[in-house]
Amino acid sequence: MRYETKMLTAADIELAAHLLRQGECVAFPTETVYGLGANALDKRAVAKIYAAKGRPADNPLIVHCHSQAQARELVRDWPQQVQKLADAFWPGPLTVVLPKNPVVPAAVTGGLDTVALRIPDHPIALDLIAAARLPVAAPSANLSGRPSPTRAEHVWQDLAGRIAAIIDGGPTGWGVESTVLDCTRLPFRLLRPGGITLEDLRRLAPVETANSGLHTSGAPLSPGVKYRHYSPSAQAILVTGKRVAENIRRLAACHGQKGKKVAVMACDESRDNYPGVIFLALGSKANLQVAAARIYHLLRQADAMGCDVILIEELPREHLGRAIMDRLQKAAGPNIIET
Ligand code: TXA
Ligand code: MG
Repeated sequence: MRYETKMLTAADIELAAHLLRQGECVAFPTETVYGLGANALDKRAVAKIYAAKGRPADNPLIVHCHSQAQARELVRDWPQQVQKLADAFWPGPLTVVLPKNPVVPAAVTGGLDTVALRIPDHPIALDLIAAARLPVAAPSANLSGRPSPTRAEHVWQDLAGRIAAIIDGGPTGWGVESTVLDCTRLPFRLLRPGGITLEDLRRLAPVETANSGLHTSGAPLSPGVKYRHYSPSAQAILVTGKRVAENIRRLAACHGQKGKKVAVMACDESRDNYPGVIFLALGSKANLQVAAARIYHLLRQADAMGCDVILIEELPREHLGRAIMDRLQKAAGPNIIET
């Protein structure tokens, strides 16, 4: 189906809520990235999300709620530790995975018996969910495999003509997606690092990290982790370990000689190491919030500039750095150079 996609603003919440109630998809800003929303209780509406994104049907969606009461109606179990996390971090970038109630269609959960829930910390998202009087299933509003959208224009680039409407709320705050936490067992398991860090979570509940996304049986814990993600059209290469700057200069020269357009993505402190190449600045190493807010936009910008290769400097992996490195690693796929 081809849509005349409407670009809306915060003043059009009622119209956007009406579209959701009619079973259409609407993209909206959250505090992390833009989401592509649909009525979570209507499997036909949910099917439109998968069609618009080209998303594999076994990759489940996050259901967005405006209150804890609304979230609790969707699950069979609400452990005390989850209550503590919800009180501390909701509204905010934490998604909890719990056993689902039968009201949640299998289409939302990719056939799993669990559902992922969060309350987003963004006035437009909260107003929209409240006005629709529905829980809203919403993955990031990008074409499957592309970098997540942190601005309405990114959503437009990927989904214009494929969805009913986009609400423009300006650039999003965090820039990386929410932390996803499996709360069906103790210790809880970190499935995807995000804005709420492992260190934050461990102050309130026991949490272990999932090293690969796979059970020993081979069944994915969090189906999303097995797919290609966050990829620009340019080849992204992540350079880690010792003598990173020296290696990046060597790689830049090598690709440059082959006539390729090369960009380097790194923190501001490294800028002087790379004279003469396009520099995608992540902000200061001392404030990784800026890097998080910029990475997806910079990956898309590199494509817009026609770059063939993006050489990326590794960042520290603590706190928010864990989420940033997770996304950069996925953007690079197999192209990780370690020395
Ligand atoms: O910040 C965010 O989380 C954004 C905004 C829009 O809320 N949403 C987002 O959705 O990033 P998406 O679909 O791009 O990522 C959802 C992740 C996927 O890795 C998916 O596999 C995982 O959550 N997930 C969803 N339901 C799950 C479940 N029942 N069990 C395990 N993982 C689940
Ligand atoms: Mg996504």
